[in-house]
Amino acid sequence: MILKFLLCFILASLPILVVANSFKDDDFADIRGPYCENIGCCRERKDSCSVPVLGTLCYCDEFCNSTRVDDCCPDYWSHCRGIPYPQPPPGPVIGCTYRDRALFLNQTVQDNCNKCVCERGANEPVLRCEQNVCLVDTNIIETINRNPENYGWTATNYSQFWGHTLEEGVQYRLGTLPPQRFVMTMNPVKRIYDPNSLPREFDSTEVWSGLITGIQDQGWCGSSWAISTAAVASDRYGIVSKGKEAVKLSAQNLISCDTQGQQSCSGGHLDRAWSFTKAYGLVDEDCFPYVARNERCTIKRRGSLESAGCRLPSFSDRRGRYTVGPAYRLGNETDIMYEITKSGPVQATIKVYQDLFSYAGGIYKLSDLALNKKQGYHSVRIIGWGEEKTYRGIEKYWKVANSWGMDWGEEGYFRIARGTNECEIESFVLASWPHISRRILLSNEINGN
Ligand SMILES: *[C@@H]1O[C@H](CO)[C@@H](O)[C@H](O)[C@H]1NC(C)=O
Ligand SMILES: *[C@@H]1O[C@H](CO)[C@@H](O)[C@H](O)[C@H]1NC(C)=O
Ligand SMILES: *[C@@H]1O[C@H](CO)[C@@H](O)[C@H](O)[C@H]1NC(C)=O
Ligand SMILES: *[C@@H]1O[C@H](CO)[C@@H](O)[C@H](O)[C@H]1NC(C)=O
Repeated sequence: MILKFLLCFILASLPILVVANSFKDDDFADIRGPYCENIGCCRERKDSCSVPVLGTLCYCDEFCNSTRVDDCCPDYWSHCRGIPYPQPPPGPVIGCTYRDRALFLNQTVQDNCNKCVCERGANEPVLRCEQNVCLVDTNIIETINRNPENYGWTATNYSQFWGHTLEEGVQYRLGTLPPQRFVMTMNPVKRIYDPNSLPREFDSTEVWSGLITGIQDQGWCGSSWAISTAAVASDRYGIVSKGKEAVKLSAQNLISCDTQGQQSCSGGHLDRAWSFTKAYGLVDEDCFPYVARNERCTIKRRGSLESAGCRLPSFSDRRGRYTVGPAYRLGNETDIMYEITKSGPVQATIKVYQDLFSYAGGIYKLSDLALNKKQGYHSVRIIGWGEEKTYRGIEKYWKVANSWGMDWGEEGYFRIARGTNECEIESFVLASWPHISRRILLSNEINGN
């Protein structure tokens, strides 16, 4: 079967081979023709009248044409039967083509996130592919990059996303369950400030250099709910303690131990994550490192740092875990800004569409290219804001820390339009206060801060 196709294929495509050079040399690594010319032609069936070719055998006996699928050597027809090259023998061509590549029957090929197989069709073989929507859509990337004045940001093909389905991306690269209705009605806190006194630009990583959690990579685990909660709490511990309790808190502590109504690597509710942190506190990252999977809770769910088997910090008299006050919600753009200047990064929920996965840089706005495809909620950390002159004039943006690694976006961050509730990013913004002992707070004051 293979050989019949191979024959037709070689005969029919040799000219293409030469002209387009579209086949790799090693595709034909074990074809060392001529075949029948070397070993001779045999009458009837003779199993030894064969040569290895492409991992199998081809035959130069008459019997090779009497099997249902013939396995004659490529030059059997011309050499043994006198059917002149390059005229192909009668019968259907058995094989498919995929982007200039020839496929044998039953051969499979991976087309981004879809597996294709060359199957026997009614008349001739057909290439049947799975029909998944892929996480990376080359069309979207090209359209966005061709129209910078339209979209305002650039896109790229991330190798870590290539080959995955959009479904997988939404399930394992996000991980925030939509806010429940009673949480959405949580009243925003009231703040008294002069909006005009807010700076035009602000970047927590510069203002509190060294105290802001770096960019993390959640891997294929829908844990943004835990990562963003732990990171916002960590940042605030560092900021409010003025560096005395600079700590990286454990997201795995939440993933593994905050299991009530939560779904570990399949997503979690933010209000519950904060309630857990408030009630039991978190341990630090070294004590319960991130493993990006649903590992069981290997520490005591509650108790002191010691009860979790953690090393006690040398820089403070802390014995208990890192707890926080009740989470509060911030109501609008300027309230969010004011909050960040006072206490540090905040947690935001964003509705993620397919195009964000391919974001490479610029000020993100939802494009019209993926509106009808699967979406999901994700939580991130707003760490600052700014303004930039663009094709469309001065545009305001938030600077946001994502959890898809440093290679993604602008060194792990992305900027997104500010003041227009882009992808709902301003709808559900949360923060909480760290619990820092008076002694530590006072020691800061004594140090002259
Ligand atoms: C191959 O075999 C079939 C059936 O035995 C026969 O009809 C056909 O003519 C043969 N083809 C050639 C080129 O001899
Ligand atoms: C292709 O796969 C089908 C179904 O699995 C099988 O019946 C057939 O023998 C295979 N053909 C070849 C050439 O491997
Ligand atoms: C995207 O990246 C993957 C992995 O690096 C690569 O295999 C693929 O060919 C790229 N796709 C396009 C359309 O450039
Ligand atoms: C945001 O809300 C505060 C009250 O919390 C209000 O004073 C302020 O004007 C609002 N800002 C905007 C931009 O709507």
